[in-house]
Amino acid sequence: MPGLVIIGAQWGDEGKGKVVDLLAEQADLVIRFQGGNNAGHTIVRDGDTFKFHLIPSGILYPGKLCAIGNGVVVDPKVLTAEIDELRRRRVDLSGLRVSANAHLIMPYHKLLDQEGEAKLGKLEIGTTRRGIGPCYADKASRLGIRLQDLLDEKILRKKIYAAMEPKRAMLRPYAKLPELDLHTMTEEFRILGHRLETFIADTAPLAWRVLDDEGLVVFEGAQGTLLDIDHGTYPFVTSSNTLAGAACAGAGVGPRSIDDVWGVAKAYTTRVGAGPFPTELDDVLGERIRDAGHEFGTTTGRARRTGWLDLVALRYAARINGLTGLVITKLDVLTGIDPLQIAVRYLGPEGASFEDFPYHQSILHRADGDYVELPGWNEDITACRSVDELPRNAQAYLDFIADFLCIPIVMIGVGPGRAEMIWTGAAERLRPAAA
Ligand code: GDP
Ligand code: IMO
Ligand code: MG
Repeated sequence: MPGLVIIGAQWGDEGKGKVVDLLAEQADLVIRFQGGNNAGHTIVRDGDTFKFHLIPSGILYPGKLCAIGNGVVVDPKVLTAEIDELRRRRVDLSGLRVSANAHLIMPYHKLLDQEGEAKLGKLEIGTTRRGIGPCYADKASRLGIRLQDLLDEKILRKKIYAAMEPKRAMLRPYAKLPELDLHTMTEEFRILGHRLETFIADTAPLAWRVLDDEGLVVFEGAQGTLLDIDHGTYPFVTSSNTLAGAACAGAGVGPRSIDDVWGVAKAYTTRVGAGPFPTELDDVLGERIRDAGHEFGTTTGRARRTGWLDLVALRYAARINGLTGLVITKLDVLTGIDPLQIAVRYLGPEGASFEDFPYHQSILHRADGDYVELPGWNEDITACRSVDELPRNAQAYLDFIADFLCIPIVMIGVGPGRAEMIWTGAAERLRPAAA
């Protein structure tokens, strides 16, 4: 299993960080391949909580090679702050690398993100306002600034000037901000470049080397399938491809280097920001799940919308990512809810029914889940370490998912802690020694 991609199978926050942290012990390289600091990946280790926005979730293993790939958009202020915080907590950063080809989030990207949302008013996407969309837009317009540009002041100044020029009109209200002054910005980013210089590298060859030596590369996804810019619930999506397929372009490897693709999904569904959500529970039960699952954004602190497990969306995610394994997290959050519902198709207006995820935005906006009811359980499952120890109804809930999707469940989350994970036996080789 030399190339293993971990992606979110829903709308993000499925618990990818925790899964990658667990797999990192066996990995020779962990590499992020898309997104930016819109991501928030939480890891709870020995009672300590770590929140990563850019740095790969494998960094807690001393010396572990952890790369931020070319497909990621990097806010150098966030990255240096994250590095400082980890240093303060005595985390070894000697294995950290960041691609010289990764694009930079600049101050004007953040302003344009805010401005864009304000202009949309009621139609806003609910972005994290981290400048992700405008940064990827500049990348596609060939006006992007990359990490390598930080190392040459003259080039940096020229590129900032060229990138700002077409934005003058939109940035007019902010023209007096010192952070937008060409010379101030150039100087600030030159200093940031100096601070990051030791980490800047050509990251694709790091992956090639590990793959050539039959080592394990874990490709760490951010966001989730339904936030993918092509295949998600457009326009309520992020600005990158979040699918497993993006691991190749965003890290610099060919598709034949990917051996396995695991999708991470909660035992229910959440989404932050606006957009369709057919199985949403806009009631006390939804609130109960939010409280039990601590469903508040890692990045923005916003309350996450909650709902029942959606197998129509999950089957779509399985197909579009080519999932070979499924990780179900937060099963413990459902304890005490009886009965449980799982959506197996969508119902539209006028009696229409959809077995498959609808491509049409208007249909999706009006779709509701059509549910199968399953009995719940009341036993505390956080101490369970094998499937056999789970209550019979929890086992039946998981069997229903695996049978519906025809994909093996490889891991089951029963709590936020590192040890609170059941390894089903489908991925025995990757089980960390500590588990
Ligand atoms: P990510 O963005 O996919 O890495 O997920 P987040 O870190 O944003 O959100 C997942 C949250 O759920 C984090 O606070 C995790 O500590 C927590 N978590 C992960 N797995 C489990 C689990 O199995 N049970 C519970 N109760 N919490 C979990
Ligand atoms: P992780 O990696 C959940 C959502 C935002 C918004 C939309 C667009 O922690 O799972 P953006 O700032 O990307 O332009 O916002 O995408 N979003 C996420 N939702 N988890 C994330 O990351 C997200 N990253 C972006 O809430 O709806
Ligand atoms: Mg998150």
